[in-house]
Amino acid sequence: MSTTKQPRQITIFDTTLRDGEQSPGCSMNLDEKLEVAQSLADLGVDVIEAGFPITSVGDFEAVREIATTISGTTICGLARCHQRDIDRAWEALKDGDNVRIHVFLATSAIHREFKLKMDKAEIIHRAVEGVTRAKSFCDNIEFSPEDAARTEIDFLCEVVEAAITAGATTVNIPDTVGYATPAHFASVISSLVNRVPNIDQAVISVHCHNDLGLAVANSLAAVENGAGQIECTINGLGERAGNCSLEEVVMALRTREDYYQATTKINTPRLVPASRLVSNITGMLVQRNKAIVGRNAFAHEAGIHQDGMLKERTTYEIMRPEDVGFTQTDLVLGKHSGRAALADRAKALGYHLTDEQLVTFFDDFKALADKKKEIYDGDLAALIEQRKSQVVDQWQLVSYEVQATSGQAPNATLTLARGPKGKTKDVTKSIDTGDGPLDALFRAIEEITGKSVVLRDFRVQSASRGKDAQGESSIEVEYQGKTYRGRGVSTDTVEAGTRAFLNAINHIEIGAAEHNQQQPTV
Ligand code: KIV
Ligand code: ZN
Repeated sequence: MSTTKQPRQITIFDTTLRDGEQSPGCSMNLDEKLEVAQSLADLGVDVIEAGFPITSVGDFEAVREIATTISGTTICGLARCHQRDIDRAWEALKDGDNVRIHVFLATSAIHREFKLKMDKAEIIHRAVEGVTRAKSFCDNIEFSPEDAARTEIDFLCEVVEAAITAGATTVNIPDTVGYATPAHFASVISSLVNRVPNIDQAVISVHCHNDLGLAVANSLAAVENGAGQIECTINGLGERAGNCSLEEVVMALRTREDYYQATTKINTPRLVPASRLVSNITGMLVQRNKAIVGRNAFAHEAGIHQDGMLKERTTYEIMRPEDVGFTQTDLVLGKHSGRAALADRAKALGYHLTDEQLVTFFDDFKALADKKKEIYDGDLAALIEQRKSQVVDQWQLVSYEVQATSGQAPNATLTLARGPKGKTKDVTKSIDTGDGPLDALFRAIEEITGKSVVLRDFRVQSASRGKDAQGESSIEVEYQGKTYRGRGVSTDTVEAGTRAFLNAINHIEIGAAEHNQQQPTV
């Protein structure tokens, strides 16, 4: 009798809210983090790394809220191998039903010598101490030897064995600086499998950075050699060039299950909604040709391809757009659509709107429907995000008037409001200098808010299709050495840009309030 081998189930560990959030300009407020966490739970990720509780009050609160409100997945908090980090992580996690503490300590020679100034024996001692402390609080412990890919393999085997003996249930092998290549990383994982005597008592995880563009390839090579968990982020967000992209690695495993003999629990039609949500919240645009979730990922332009597609789809398509969450037609709503249809579509896009949010959002929707006949998914997502990014006590755009003539300085008058609903105070400023209408409006915003920034990037793209499409503007600014992003949307591109700039200023204000502690360094 022939038996078919069951595929291995790979654990998907998402670190969008921790490593992803660490990337410049991608910080999120508590509500935004909760929304992303819910979308990750809807997606079916097994573990959500919700933050690094010792780093700030904001991170601590986010981990605590997510651990106690998001169900159906494990919530993880990061800690260095320091007693106070681990205690703080536990404090944030302790009321959750299903939690994990993740402790890490660098092991490579370069980190030992220059960063930690510790020898190998001290590293093992500290790692064991950290895992033991974490284990005294909870059973589910992950240990990461940071910069593992550049650690001497004999020493890496020694550290991993000691961490498992101390109680680690997952040992994560980070390629912290994105240095590994697939064959090299495969050999690291197979060495651990073959040489660490107690390796069967823990799951091997991998955490690959994308500095050489190899994070997904390295993660797949690790799975092929025995890794059972992949750490990744939505849209590949993360430090520098980012982390392994969740959507890419999941679809690679799904599309090539024949080869990898491995599956995940990911509900793949939720990939596009999750990608849009994270992009809208962080302001990090997804490149058009990004694999899986980019707007062009399924667009066939060449005639020869289109002809093949018409004859037999699989001639040129290895995945169906609907498998990742692109809808066949995303023409959704119009002027006569009701609140229920709107709520339904918002949910399909991955948004969980409260009744109160739905009321205001419905007003925005009606206003847009007066300007624009057909409202697409992209319009809705942009509109929801814009509404959500407006928080009481922050600056809101009331009105502007701008005159621009070629060869002459522009003239702009801007009114902003600040304060709780019903009690806002308007402030107006007129400016008659600048390189153009937007520059004048940006200057007026800086004068009113008292925040002077350096503009690093400014883009406008259409949120959907057609000449009447909304313009979606994204802006990156630098303020006191830190990067902040803003996003704005309107059928008028000048207004979209103005809103994006104001949104970036609002993020500076939120950031100042939430990230009021220093990031630990070692
Ligand atoms: O890249 C890295 O090494 C990390 C660890 C904390 C896992 O993010
Ligand atoms: Zn990392």
